[in-house]
Amino acid sequence: MDFDELIARLDLGTKIRLLTGADMWSLPPLPEIGLDRLVMSDGPIGVRGEQWSAVDPSIALPSPTALAATWDVDLVRRAGALLAQEARRKGVHVLLAPTINLHRSPLGGRHFECFSEDPYLTGEIGAAYVEGVQESGVATTPKHFVANDFETDRFTVDVRVSEKALREVYLRPFERVVAAGAWGLMTAYNSVNGTTMTEHADLVNGVLKGEWGFDGFVVSDWTAVRTTEAAALGGTDVAMPGPRGPWGEKLAAAVREGRVPESVVDDRVRRVLRLAHRVGALRGAQAPVSGDRPAVDGAALAREVATRGFTLLTNTGILPFQQVGRVAVIGAAAAEARVMGGGSAQVFPDRIVSPLQGIAERAEVRYALGTDPRIRLSPLPGPATAAFLDAGGAVLSEQPLATAEARWIGQLPPGVDGDRLAAVRLRTTYTPDVSGEHRLSVAGVGAFTLTVDGRTVLDGSIDLDGGDPAVAFLSPPERRVGLPMTAGRAYEVIVTHPAGMFGGMAYVSFTLGHADPGPGEDELMAEAVRVAAECDVAVVVAATTQEVESEGFDRADLRLPGRQDELIRAVAAANPRTVVVVNAGSPVELPWAEEAAAVLLTWFPGQEAGAALAEVLFGDAEPGGRLPTTWPRRLEDAPVTDVTPVNGVVAYGEGTSIGYRAWERSGRVPAFWFGHGLGYTTWSYDSIAAEGTSVTVAVTNTGDRPGREVVQVYVDRALAGFDVVEAAPGETVITTVFLPERAFQVWEEGGWRTVEGVHTVEAGRHAADPRLSATVKI
Ligand code: BGC
Repeated sequence: MDFDELIARLDLGTKIRLLTGADMWSLPPLPEIGLDRLVMSDGPIGVRGEQWSAVDPSIALPSPTALAATWDVDLVRRAGALLAQEARRKGVHVLLAPTINLHRSPLGGRHFECFSEDPYLTGEIGAAYVEGVQESGVATTPKHFVANDFETDRFTVDVRVSEKALREVYLRPFERVVAAGAWGLMTAYNSVNGTTMTEHADLVNGVLKGEWGFDGFVVSDWTAVRTTEAAALGGTDVAMPGPRGPWGEKLAAAVREGRVPESVVDDRVRRVLRLAHRVGALRGAQAPVSGDRPAVDGAALAREVATRGFTLLTNTGILPFQQVGRVAVIGAAAAEARVMGGGSAQVFPDRIVSPLQGIAERAEVRYALGTDPRIRLSPLPGPATAAFLDAGGAVLSEQPLATAEARWIGQLPPGVDGDRLAAVRLRTTYTPDVSGEHRLSVAGVGAFTLTVDGRTVLDGSIDLDGGDPAVAFLSPPERRVGLPMTAGRAYEVIVTHPAGMFGGMAYVSFTLGHADPGPGEDELMAEAVRVAAECDVAVVVAATTQEVESEGFDRADLRLPGRQDELIRAVAAANPRTVVVVNAGSPVELPWAEEAAAVLLTWFPGQEAGAALAEVLFGDAEPGGRLPTTWPRRLEDAPVTDVTPVNGVVAYGEGTSIGYRAWERSGRVPAFWFGHGLGYTTWSYDSIAAEGTSVTVAVTNTGDRPGREVVQVYVDRALAGFDVVEAAPGETVITTVFLPERAFQVWEEGGWRTVEGVHTVEAGRHAADPRLSATVKI
């Protein structure tokens, strides 16, 4: 396709218009050259589409730490094909994913959204994701380029990092996905060594587009472009969102005045046209995918990925359950699983299978809440109506809602003009089942009023703590009030709340929360202990909350929130056959681990959470996961924890030393090493042979059921290859992995140097469990 001929037909203003969003999620169509509107959407666990609500539901896969825990690039590629299918269904051309920043500190708020502490594993899983999505004709934008490994002050923080650490650690996954052919890439909010990433000519023009030969398009993170010339010259191709932004007429003036060469604008337009051509949005482009691809069953794949990512940390032999009687199912997250982390990674599935539902399909269950760690109340069940009001109180539009949760960003409902929108009035009728003191709440930022049957029961203004404006939309703070209510009586409940502004665009985000009157915390705990003692086995589901794992802020500690540690100890003391299911996207401290009969980590398991859990607990499927990140016993043991800027700077003073290699150097022992995970069978590691850069390993399934093993190969103690193998009882399988060039190289004085000599190659079950060893000479 002759892009230059198309570019020559566009005037400067039109070219520049193509480089800023037409709205929150799309670039403008240019019918005169046959270019369709190009639509982007988050990512990474599903495709949300242009609405931030359940109006157009999405398949919700397990979160990225779970996907990486499968260590299975073929499965990840299949997940990519499903995501592309979802994207096409929703008219999305570009999936804003995968997130390939690293688990530098366990406190990173988006840890759950990244794959691993290891750059090689991150790169391999990331590349499989990119290939899977793009093979089906949908673009990806691996993100956030680069060193966006924590959230505190992310818009302004300057990460100081050595060139060696950048090259060997933080850039490595990006280098890998670019080699895999990514069609897009998203720059980060933060600065690196003094320059904000949207303006980072050295890394974007120099390394990415120059050295690595990246021919895709570079999109800014949302609102990250703050300058005209510096960002345009720095290598950013597209500024999102729009249509307001620092380019437009200002960039046209910069071109006219010779401050930005027009060839720079043309190069950016060429990259957008190439993208459009690749995704089939430019007239004359071939359809990106042949029509005869078999449809992927989204729910089935979500369940498969979940079971394959579940990581069995300990097991005294209780799992899989054999002929169990009554099962005590305990915990808030057992009834309402936390299936995804917070922030832009959220999607809205049309169903969620809770652990309680999943287990109840297989056994007789008794449920007890035990304790509820959630800080915010759940939305009052609907139906509800949202009326969009202008400053004079006139209704611009009315929308039905399934629950009392109002959330719109980017796309406002038809008939609602963002410039006129002042507030939203949410109205619902609630008829309690029980009498007593109910709790109602409003979560949102700004002035609000809550009335019940016309009487104001709560009003005031909620301020945002901290500076991240995304939090006002993603996870706003809450105010509560207690109210006596009578069972069977219908109450009219109304909340009025102002619209907010993000990136020059109006948005709406607030929730009317509710909780029934209930027993006190101590009574709940005692009830759970009683239920556990009366059952054959107990399954406690412990989880982090929305306030713990989300985009927009980092974690303060690694403890399970609320009284969950206490609950687990009490239940395990009452019933020695207690299995603890840990429902968290990133490491949590497990101080009771030795008191439980088994600890199963389900991560954020996606929409099929409970169905997958039942399969694994009852032994239909083996828990296939291996940790993609080392889990500390206590936060203070972790070698790198710091996420708090000092004078606007976070210095990666540890250099290349993160993850298991840093643990090893520190001499400290974590709770569970990178790579650890048990299955339902046992393995012997029989032989290793290294020949050049290929390594052949033989392993035997020594147990009595079929199983799957992740054979991990380390070169000089760093992961350099892996493969997933399957074997029947007694069967030996042989696998050959090919070691990448980078496994034998270091970055020195501005270039890669191959370290000649003898290298140790080990195969084993985790980073600190080498079973076989060989050497290679390079
Ligand atoms: C996030 C990105 C996301 C974008 C659009 C930003 O706040 O950092 O990961 O793709 O919003 O939702």
